[in-house]
Amino acid sequence: MLFLQLLLLTLLLPGSNHADMVHDMVSFHIIQISSYANQSWVQNQGSGWLDELQTHGWESESGSIIFLHTWSKGNFTDEQLTDLELLFRVYFIGLTQEIRNYASQFQFEYPFEMQVNAGCELYSRESPKDFVQVAYEGSDFMSFQNTSWVPSPEGGSPAQKVCDLLNQYEGIKETVQSLVRKTCPQFLLGLLDAGKMYLQRKVKPEAWLSGHSTLKSGRLLLVCHVSGFYPKPVWVMWMRDEQEQLGTKHEDPFPHADGTWYLRANLDVAAEDAAGLSCRVRHSSLGDQDIILYWGRRLSASLISLAVIVPLILLIVLMLLFKKRCSYWNIL
Ligand SMILES: *[C@@H]1O[C@H](CO)[C@@H](O)[C@H](O)[C@H]1NC(C)=O
Ligand SMILES: *[C@@H]1O[C@H](CO)[C@@H](O)[C@H](O)[C@H]1NC(C)=O
Ligand SMILES: *[C@@H]1O[C@H](CO)[C@@H](O)[C@H](O)[C@H]1NC(C)=O
Repeated sequence: MLFLQLLLLTLLLPGSNHADMVHDMVSFHIIQISSYANQSWVQNQGSGWLDELQTHGWESESGSIIFLHTWSKGNFTDEQLTDLELLFRVYFIGLTQEIRNYASQFQFEYPFEMQVNAGCELYSRESPKDFVQVAYEGSDFMSFQNTSWVPSPEGGSPAQKVCDLLNQYEGIKETVQSLVRKTCPQFLLGLLDAGKMYLQRKVKPEAWLSGHSTLKSGRLLLVCHVSGFYPKPVWVMWMRDEQEQLGTKHEDPFPHADGTWYLRANLDVAAEDAAGLSCRVRHSSLGDQDIILYWGRRLSASLISLAVIVPLILLIVLMLLFKKRCSYWNIL
């Protein structure tokens, strides 16, 4: 409890290191996806995430944590991390064994998939929240609430049976609680601090336009592509002069492997109305220098001048060469 109070204190103290980083909410969570093909074949995948950014992987052959960034160890010591690695290794082995033993009793039918999402959230003005959710074949199965396992309604009687069994093991419950309530927020704060440079970086987007004719004749789907920006918040709008085109439809931002984002903003227009439209991009990395791209102006002014100047220079060079050659012949 003392830890939580200290944690809140650091979060609320003005000018403290963390106050500016913990914006609305930030979370660290672990995702486990286990596929059971049959009695003897299982594949366990594990990963660690800071909000939507993957920070950790799991090498299931050797049972070791993969650190995806230089700062992925946060402020934990190698010893702490080795202990965690061992804990996860024992967990995966034990889980595989137990599932094999109990599969028929719990009415798990091969092949099936289990997913676990566990972690903690920090809000700047509230105490940390923790969660452990388990899904079977993609639907809610059970979760860890307060101090015990609770079946989800979707889980039916198998979920009830699993919870009844697991709730008998005090040791497991205490370990789970300690992991999500103590270790997780501690690790998250250390991670935010260690990754500060990376997490607070600003990367400018690149933008380009494309257009496709749609199934409806005479209509165009204009697409404004905005790629490679960080952080995620961005404003992209199709405009006619200063008029925002309210028909602009935004697709969900898509993450690149390097943690930057890609987004598309689409506008469906009558082909003859396309001229004069522009796409405007605002992003914190650009300051107040919005990117503005005009539809239909394929050749920019500099390209046009290049198109005039290059042939002109070539012509002059040719004339000079020709002249030189003439004078040479004259001497002969
Ligand atoms: C179990 O599943 C794996 C992967 O699909 C397959 O290669 C293997 O032959 C299966 N084993 C049995 C005993 O069915
Ligand atoms: C959580 O557990 C504590 C102690 O076991 C209990 O006092 C409290 O009422 C519980 N809260 C909920 C929401 O179940
Ligand atoms: C890591 O940082 C957190 C938050 O600042 C702190 O509570 C924790 O004790 C630190 N852990 C280590 C191993 O230094």
